[in-house]
Amino acid sequence: MASIQLKNVVKRYGTGKHELQVIHGVDAVIADREFVVIVGPSGCGKSTLLRMVAGLEEVTEGEILIGDRVVNNLEPSERDIAMVFQNYALYPHMSVFDNMAYGLKIKKVPIGEIRARVDKAAGILELGPFLDRKPRQLSGGQRQRVAMGRAIVRQPQVFLFDEPLSNLDAKLRAQTRIEIQKLHRELGITSLFVTHDQVEAMTLAQRMIVMKAGRMEQIGTPEEVYQRPATTFVASFIGSPPMNLMKGTADGTQFNVSGPALPLPGPAPRHGELILGLRPEHASLDTSDAPGWPLRVEMIEMLGAERLVYGRLGDDLFTVRIDGTRVPPAVGELLSLRMETRHLHWFDPATGQRVE
Ligand SMILES: Nc1ncnc2c1ncn2[C@@H]1O[C@H](COP(=O)(O)OP(=O)(O)O)[C@@H](O)[C@H]1O
Ligand SMILES: [Mg+2]
Repeated sequence: MASIQLKNVVKRYGTGKHELQVIHGVDAVIADREFVVIVGPSGCGKSTLLRMVAGLEEVTEGEILIGDRVVNNLEPSERDIAMVFQNYALYPHMSVFDNMAYGLKIKKVPIGEIRARVDKAAGILELGPFLDRKPRQLSGGQRQRVAMGRAIVRQPQVFLFDEPLSNLDAKLRAQTRIEIQKLHRELGITSLFVTHDQVEAMTLAQRMIVMKAGRMEQIGTPEEVYQRPATTFVASFIGSPPMNLMKGTADGTQFNVSGPALPLPGPAPRHGELILGLRPEHASLDTSDAPGWPLRVEMIEMLGAERLVYGRLGDDLFTVRIDGTRVPPAVGELLSLRMETRHLHWFDPATGQRVE
């Protein structure tokens, strides 16, 4: 077992005028036995970061430690890691057993030991009945489990996952998420898991790193990141539908947006230009005597358990999430939204940083 430390890790591709910096100094410590998810939009540098931990990309600056060893100059095979990729990378001509056993055979692990480890992994992953099949005789989900099995039998100190669920359909993805969590509970192997999918990140992570354009925007538990996003980027990236964000000018308990002056349930953290955020589930349609925010309804989506009400506050688009069993408002209706002070999020419009 081992921790992973990233110390001011920088990655540049190319040289001279072709130089491209894709990782801009990432610092993070992943604790021994922890499951950390790196999440961010496509192209933000997630795979690059993971591949540097794996030893598949050189580290331009900074240090990566696995346990107490600096691994910058170690070969992938010397790092005691196992990686699971999106495209499984199974050997098509080998059986499931041989695919899982291959790495151990190369390392000259005795055949009895190989059989024991493969049988155990096959048991955990429910692959027992498929050990003699070839990959083409398996479903996508089964192939994915073989790829995980191959990682498990190596009994590494660290698991690295690069979007391993992206090729699965929604139902299988949800199932496999549960299996991965179970696996982590049973084996307790330190894991770094990369995904662009914020739902996957929220459900799998003990802690998550939210990345944008080669920088770490926030690291924290899913609750911390959801409840106190550090930046407007995190606020709009984590959560579906995303947090409503409105630019305006705060003046005591009033917030002036494009159209109306919105009454605030408590004072803004400071005067002047700010961005105000409110999650769709934190705007209530319940009537009360307190003045509300006028929302003109433009569209309603029925999602089953809940309904999404889309409308406008002045010129700003705004989304409200309501219970699916409740009678929906009519398109064109003018609603009055109410909210609690503790649910308001404030950000600096110049930096995007959270303002307390
Ligand atoms: N070998 C490479 N040479 C040059 N640029 C690269 C190379 N690999 C990745 N990049 C660039 O680095 C950035 C991050 O890529 P990547 O880590 O694959 O992002 P993600 O996994 O988050 O989608 C992208 O802009 C990509 O084009
Ligand atoms: Mg990637």
